[in-house]
Amino acid sequence: MSERLLIFDTTLRDGEQVPGCQLSTIEKVQVARALEELGVDVIEAGFPASSPGDFHSVECIASAVSKPIVCALARAVESDIELAAQALKGAARGRIHTGIGTSDSHIRYKFNSTREDILEQAVAATRLARNLSDDVEFYCEDAGRTDNVYLARVVEAVIKAGATVVNIPDTTGFCMPDEFGQKIAYLMENVNGIDHVTLSVHCHNDLGLATANTLQAIRAGARQVQVTVNGIGERAGNASLEEIVMILRSHPELGIDTGIDTTRLFHASRLVSSLMNMPVQANKAIVGRNAFSHSSGIHQDGVIKNRKTYEILDPKEVGMLDSSLILTARSGRAALQQRCQLLGVEVHGPELDRLYEKFLKLADSKTDISDMDILGLAGHSEPRRQRVHLDYLNVTSGLGVEHCASIRMTIDGQQHEASSPGNGPVDAAIKCIKKITGNRMTIREFLIQAMDRGSDDTGKVHMQVEFENVLYYGFAADTDIVTAAVQAFICAVNKFPCERLVL
Ligand code: KIV
Ligand code: ZN
Repeated sequence: MSERLLIFDTTLRDGEQVPGCQLSTIEKVQVARALEELGVDVIEAGFPASSPGDFHSVECIASAVSKPIVCALARAVESDIELAAQALKGAARGRIHTGIGTSDSHIRYKFNSTREDILEQAVAATRLARNLSDDVEFYCEDAGRTDNVYLARVVEAVIKAGATVVNIPDTTGFCMPDEFGQKIAYLMENVNGIDHVTLSVHCHNDLGLATANTLQAIRAGARQVQVTVNGIGERAGNASLEEIVMILRSHPELGIDTGIDTTRLFHASRLVSSLMNMPVQANKAIVGRNAFSHSSGIHQDGVIKNRKTYEILDPKEVGMLDSSLILTARSGRAALQQRCQLLGVEVHGPELDRLYEKFLKLADSKTDISDMDILGLAGHSEPRRQRVHLDYLNVTSGLGVEHCASIRMTIDGQQHEASSPGNGPVDAAIKCIKKITGNRMTIREFLIQAMDRGSDDTGKVHMQVEFENVLYYGFAADTDIVTAAVQAFICAVNKFPCERLVL
């Protein structure tokens, strides 16, 4: 009989702290619903005290999902804990996740305090949270670098004060797997009352050890893991949900079950990646583009004969429709024919020979052969271009000048032009689009963020546009933030279901 491991997903809290990855409330709810379908046990929805926007998102997520516990983060500070409790009011099952730094470095440099005072604050925060919620998780920040004897005292004290879950983060990702496993084993053996609570871990990936450390902790007795989709999170990220889940599934001898519907992993990965505009590295375990791809001729031949020769996981198990053989100049006819079949094109005999010849010529001049290239060679056209397309944009902006814009765009194959003044260059450009399409849409949310830093940085724009009482989401990125804003607006307009965009 397997033991159950609880999956606590913090994509919407630790993951969302990544610079440039902020989501709108609608997007967060979309991710929360995908996590619910995936079967996670707890969703950490945000940190309500950090901003009114975060508070609102936690409230919305709390009422949007019903199966998982919805959790809100709070420092061991009265007002944080009260705000967390307030934001969780609409949750079917809510949890306050409060805590404080327990390592000597945090106690001394961050809080200018002492071990005894921190212990008292930890107990007071837990009691307050427990008065406001039946479910309280306490985190000992930087537990990875906290002295085990002191850590055990804090854990025991917060359990006595009413914590139902105790979380042991390796906040800086510093621990080695055996050391982190021993820390968990030490707590399991030396803390009175530990068997009445769930012991949780939260591992960061600064040294690439987040998954290994999480796994060691599970082996030592942790029964909840804090993870994120695609392993996103502060700095180098957190332990990745899909890796932990698939490791445990691939090793039944560990006797641990997660309850996750693994066939939804790929979808969740791509949803988070596209909403946060954070690409998944091609060689990422489980969900990377190349995770199930075989490019050498020998590997391709083996996989075509029997997948198990080079694949330990079936891509269907994680929701990938099929593994893709990367097509290069070294690929054979069989690989090309198989890709064509996946793309819905049947080629055999002399037709396959002709296609293969064309393919080899292309592969000689281009290393990365895409599905579009294959369809092109096979005589199948590319998918239809978006119905609304920006062809030209010129804006005048600056101090002491009148802001105005001129635009040329193609809508359903017809070119249109307009010019307009406005209250800033973006407003002027949007007014041009409205002149062409009719003033039937309203911007409800408009978020501009720099991807990184520097004056040459790319700006990301998230926009919500209301049309006939429905909100449509648009996204674009460009080094020119006015262009990015206009393209984000057009991205949303392209989703309108109406037959005629130009009245
Ligand atoms: O890394 C960390 O310690 C955290 C805590 C807030 C759990 O994210
Ligand atoms: Zn963290």
